[in-house]
Amino acid sequence: KKIVLAYSGGLDTSVLLSWIKETYDADVIAFCANIGQDDELKGLDKKAKSTGAAGLYIDDLQDEFAKDFIYPMLQAGAIYEGEYFLGTSIARPLIAKRMVEIARKEGAYAIAHGATGKGNDQVRFELTTAALAPELEIIAPWRDERFRTQFPGRAEMIAYCEEKKIPVQASAKKPFSMDRNLLHISYEAGILEDPWFDAGDLKYRDYFNVLSVFPEDAPDKPQMVTLDFEKGNCVGVNGKALSPLAVMRQLNKLGGKHGVGRVDMVENRFVGMKSRGVYETPGGAILQFAHRQLESLTMDREVMHIRDGLIPKYAELVYNGFWYAPERLAIQALVTESQKNVTGSVRVKLYKGGIHAAGRKSPHSLYNPHIATMEADPTKAYNQDDATGFIRLNGLRLRVNSQVNGAANLG
Ligand code: ARG
Ligand code: SIN
Repeated sequence: KKIVLAYSGGLDTSVLLSWIKETYDADVIAFCANIGQDDELKGLDKKAKSTGAAGLYIDDLQDEFAKDFIYPMLQAGAIYEGEYFLGTSIARPLIAKRMVEIARKEGAYAIAHGATGKGNDQVRFELTTAALAPELEIIAPWRDERFRTQFPGRAEMIAYCEEKKIPVQASAKKPFSMDRNLLHISYEAGILEDPWFDAGDLKYRDYFNVLSVFPEDAPDKPQMVTLDFEKGNCVGVNGKALSPLAVMRQLNKLGGKHGVGRVDMVENRFVGMKSRGVYETPGGAILQFAHRQLESLTMDREVMHIRDGLIPKYAELVYNGFWYAPERLAIQALVTESQKNVTGSVRVKLYKGGIHAAGRKSPHSLYNPHIATMEADPTKAYNQDDATGFIRLNGLRLRVNSQVNGAANLG
């Protein structure tokens, strides 16, 4: 009997590994995805083995994460509840997809994860598994009364590891939970549970500045950045062609230095509760901003408004774990079609936490200065006299309504 477990080598997943092995009397195959979290992956093999793993996979999924997950989502302009760039949400389906592949290869009957029973992550892992491998069972110890009773806190976990000779570094626990990858780092729980707690207070600058500085600490000199796009995907920065992964790294560095992409919000979890989250998404924020600038130049109005109407829906699908769902793919097809002329360059200025537009250009620009100009138009594409009839007809039903029901009816 084999079980594949999402494993990081930290205290929680080490305990999980050992507990699952014991409780299910199964071989546990540990899996660690490298999605840019910058964890120490060296020595993980030895650690997993001495914790009792029957095998360990460490897979570098960074390229795939950038190209097939982050990029399509950025094309859609997806933002959850107006603020969250979905950094954790978009990583889960990739991790679960790879776990399914390993389970198949190893002939495992179940996959296990350490997400709590109160969060979104459990849903994302399990919906992905349902979609890709309905035959696989799920093991979620945090939803198991036995596990929760045995491990009411960290102290019990540390004692358990000592007893089982499980090697864990008892690193000082931060008073919140973190999740980092190529797109972002998130912080939630602990001291952040008080929504009035100010995570931007400078006395916390050693906590919430992993990917970006506080705006107060950013350079006094602004920095210009040029981004080149092809069909809605960023393919170069400052004139240099880059892979999606390299773009993410480069923009994280630039954005981080200037403190952009920092978010502090209260969000609605899929399971029904509100949750407070702090995020650093420097590169993602620049891409999101620049992409929209280029769309403003190249995208047809009606196409844009239809796509824009789908942004909340698309973001909700990603947030709720429906990446591998027919409705996400259907919207994605529309998004891809909408991007075919989103090619060109955008210049932005980064300055003390802000991203400012500083120019856009494209061979597909729909912006026509002759038409828009306040001066006389040599092309005669727009006849101002036409506006009279245009407005008269648009006003027709408003006049009728007013005549029938009276203007007072509208106030
Ligand atoms: N609230 C964010 C989301 O649901 C971040 C979750 C962070 N997850 C974690 N395991 N720390 O996407
Ligand atoms: C968790 O509960 O495991 C983390 C937070 C979340 O999934 O929303």
